[in-house]
Amino acid sequence: MTDKTSTPRPSMEDIISLCKRRGFIFQGSEIYGGLAGTWDYGPFGVTLRNNVRNLWWKRFVEDREDMYGIDAAILMNQNVWKASGHVAGFSDPLVEDAKTKKRYRADHLLEEAGVDVKGMSLAGMSAAMKEKGIKSPDGNALGEVRQFNMMFKTNVGATEDETSVSYLRPETAGGMFVNYKNVVDSIHPKLPFGLAQIGKAFRNEIAPRDFIFRLRELEQMEIEYFVDPKDWEKVFESFRSEMHAFTKDIGLAPAHVHELEVADGDRAHYSKRTIDFEFDYPFGKKELYGLAYRTDFDLSAHTKGSGVDLSYFDEETKTRLTPHVIEPSFGVERTVLAILTESYTEDTLGSEAGAEGAEKRIYLKFPPRIAPVKVAVFPLLKNKPQLVEKARDVFSMLKKELASHGVYGAMFDDNGNIGKRYRRQDEIGTPFCVTIDFDTLGETADLKDTVTLRNRDTGEQQRIALDALTDYVLNAIV
Ligand code: GAP
Repeated sequence: MTDKTSTPRPSMEDIISLCKRRGFIFQGSEIYGGLAGTWDYGPFGVTLRNNVRNLWWKRFVEDREDMYGIDAAILMNQNVWKASGHVAGFSDPLVEDAKTKKRYRADHLLEEAGVDVKGMSLAGMSAAMKEKGIKSPDGNALGEVRQFNMMFKTNVGATEDETSVSYLRPETAGGMFVNYKNVVDSIHPKLPFGLAQIGKAFRNEIAPRDFIFRLRELEQMEIEYFVDPKDWEKVFESFRSEMHAFTKDIGLAPAHVHELEVADGDRAHYSKRTIDFEFDYPFGKKELYGLAYRTDFDLSAHTKGSGVDLSYFDEETKTRLTPHVIEPSFGVERTVLAILTESYTEDTLGSEAGAEGAEKRIYLKFPPRIAPVKVAVFPLLKNKPQLVEKARDVFSMLKKELASHGVYGAMFDDNGNIGKRYRRQDEIGTPFCVTIDFDTLGETADLKDTVTLRNRDTGEQQRIALDALTDYVLNAIV
C-alpha cells in the first residue's frame, strides 16, 4: 500500500481546477467578476460540507450527553460585541499603499520578507517595515501600520445612526454566551456542559487568499464548554485529543496535523492558553483549528455588559461560581480544503507507469463516510433498454435501502462511455461504482443478478450478488 504521508502534495491550481470542473466550489458572483473572499458551493461541494458538518455534530453533540445545540441569529445587539471586546480589539495590522490606497496585512508583508512578527507591536512592525525597505506589491511606499477592525458593520432598521449599528458576527461563539442563561434556565444542565453551534461568521479580511482558506464569509463549528475553573486543564486535554480524533475521522494523516502552542502576546484577547492545530496545506503549514481556554472572560464581560447575572449555582454543593470556558473551534472551509488536499491523488491504472496501456488518472481518496457520492450505478451501455431498466431498478433499490440506514449518496450515471464515467466518479471521490451488464441480466446463467463492483482506490473490479450490495456499501461507510 502507498504511504499516504509520502504522496506529493497537490498544488492549489490542481485543487481549484478540479473543484470547478467537477462542481464542488465556484468563485462567488463569478459572472460579475467575483467578490474577493467569497466562494459558492456546487452540488458535490454542498454534500461534502454537509457530511463534514454531520460528522462533527455526531462526534461532538449526538454521541455525548453533555452537549446542547444552539442556532443563534447572525445579527446581534451591538452591545454583545462591545462587551466581548470585539469592537475595540478584533483587528489586524494594516498598511496602506500611499499611491493606490490599496491595503495590505502588515504582518503578511513582513513574514514574506522573512521577519518573525510574533509578539511585535504596531510601532515595532512600522519600524521593521522601514528597516527592511518593504514596499507595496505595486512598488510604492507604504504608510504607518495601524489596526483595522474586521467586523462588517451594518444598520438594522430604517435609521442609520449609532443606535441602529449592528455587526455580522465575527465568530459564532457570541451567540452561545448570550444564550448560556437561557439554556441553564430551561434545560438545567449540570456543570460541566457545552453549547455547540454551526453557522456563518464574517470577517472583513484585508487580504482574503488561498482559495477557501482565508475568507470574508466563513462557517464555524464551535463549542463553548463550561467548567468549574479547577477542572479547566483536564477538559482542555480531553478536547485536545477529541480534536485529533476528528482530524482522523475526516481522513487527515496524523503526520500532516501539527500543534502550535500560541505564545503570550499572540493569543486572542480572551484567551489564557491556545493551541492552534495546523495542517500541511499546499501553501505551507497553516492554522486549521483552534483550542482556547477563554477563562471566565466572556461570562464575566457579558454579566457586566448586560447587567444580567451569568453565574452558575451548583445545587449539590450550594455554591455559586462563574464557569470557565474551553473552546474548540473548527472552520468548515479549512476542513474542506484540508480534506481536498489530503484526498487529491494522481496515479496510473491498468499497468505500470510508463508502460503501454498505462492510464493516468486523478481521484479524490475521500473516506467513504464523507464522500458526496457513495456509490454510482451504471448500465454498461446506455442504448440497451434492458440494461438501462435493470440499472434504474438497482439504483432505486440501493438508494432506498441506503436511505433506510440514514445513508444518502447513490447516483445514477449513464453519461458518456464507461471509461469516462469512471474518471468522473474518481474525480468526485466516489468509493464504489456498480455496473449492470449482460451477465446481470442472465446471459451467463450463474452470474444472473450479480454486478461488477469497482473500487475507486485500486481500480479493481469484483463480481458481487445484488442482494449483498447494500451491506457491502454500508460496511465500508461506518
Ligand atoms: N471563536 C474563536 C475563533 O473564532 P479563530 O481562531 O479566530 O477563533 C476559529 O477562528 C477557526 O475559524 C479557525 O481555526 C479557522 O478554522 C476558522 N477561520 C477563522 N478565520 C477564518 C477565515 N478568515 N477564513 C476561513 N476560516 C477562518
